[in-house]
Amino acid sequence: MTDAQAHKVRFEPVGIEMEIEEGETVLNAAFRQGISLMHGCKEGQCGSCKSKLVDGDIELLKYSTFALPDYESETGHVLLCRTHVYSDVSFELLNYDEDLLSRSIAVKAFPACVTAISALTQDIRLLEIEIERPIKFWAGQYVDLTAGDGGITRAFSMANAPSEGTRLRFIIKKYPNGAFSSQLDGGLKVGDSLSVKGPYGTCFRREERPGPMLLIGGGSGMSPLWSILADHIESREQRPVRFFYGARTRADLFYLDELAAIAAKLSDFKFVPALSHATAEDNWEGEVGFVHEVVSRHLCEEKLAGPIDAYACGPTPMIDAVLPILQVNGVEPEHIYFDKFTPAVR
Ligand SMILES: Cc1cc2nc3c(=O)[nH]c(=O)nc-3n(C[C@H](O)[C@H](O)[C@H](O)COP(=O)(O)OP(=O)(O)OC[C@H]3O[C@@H](n4cnc5c(N)ncnc54)[C@H](O)[C@@H]3O)c2cc1C
Ligand code: FES
Repeated sequence: MTDAQAHKVRFEPVGIEMEIEEGETVLNAAFRQGISLMHGCKEGQCGSCKSKLVDGDIELLKYSTFALPDYESETGHVLLCRTHVYSDVSFELLNYDEDLLSRSIAVKAFPACVTAISALTQDIRLLEIEIERPIKFWAGQYVDLTAGDGGITRAFSMANAPSEGTRLRFIIKKYPNGAFSSQLDGGLKVGDSLSVKGPYGTCFRREERPGPMLLIGGGSGMSPLWSILADHIESREQRPVRFFYGARTRADLFYLDELAAIAAKLSDFKFVPALSHATAEDNWEGEVGFVHEVVSRHLCEEKLAGPIDAYACGPTPMIDAVLPILQVNGVEPEHIYFDKFTPAVR
């Protein structure tokens, strides 16, 4: 780092300071130095890293106005994942979490290779990889995987508990012509190399909490929730767990036997699958509708006692629908953790 290119960044109200090089974003400089700020997509799509510029000279890279509407950029709001700085600067963090800051893990790159790819449903795949040295992460976090000659990089949440050392698993939904996901049906093969960078993400399991835990997901949103659930089981903590999972039809459900085994093992666990497009052939007697509707019904009926922690992962519309339901039902906003699986910027 040369003096000419390096600046100082200060974050209020927490009083944390760090260095930044010209040409890197504030968020990446923080990751490099093991400072975990609030973030989601890292690509200017989700708004999780929104902060306020207090003073200094900055430039914003391209971002979505869903993440930062014009009226906010005009009042000094910025997205730290899209901010380059050209002088010493200070920002006011609008969202920060002492727990997150105290559990920061520096982001690193790890060489890896594919060990297995299997089908969980017609459009969901399980990717298993082996990395050369163990990666430290919290259950629920994600990494950037880079694969293929074109070097396509996408964010994927680990599905395994952090205790598994050098073996990582990912539950991945295939999109038609998906640059990364369509490689899971032939393009990527066992033995192929991948690169892993991480860990990232703020939707990780908070430990030793007294009240119930809600897990809410749809599609490949199962991946981080499965990691959180596995880690919870390993911890032997006792708390009520309600797992709501949205799928279109019965054929889109998976891990049902594993979930039944977990239900037999945990003292207060319920898995509630909800089908949004059940067909007559499904002979489905379970919950129907979108997962947020089912969560709403259950929270109204069951009246869980104690402070609830909720973890929600999956497509953006699902998360946007779930968040107000949780708040209406008394879940404190600072106890709601979520990852929006926003599409990558291409
Ligand atoms: C924090 C985070 C964690 C994530 N974790 C996971 C995970 O554990 N498992 C997983 O499967 N995915 C996850 N994703 C999404 C993943 O990073 C990719 O966006 C997704 O796999 C599509 O990449 P692709 O290259 O296959 O498709 P692309 O080539 O990027 O897109 C192909 C087509 O599919 C559409 N599309 C792509 N992504 C989406 C989407 N999310 N919603 C709607 N349409 C879309 C695009 O608009 C495009 O038309 C996560 C994303 C984020 C931000
Ligand atoms: S907008 Fe910055 S992390 Fe998503």
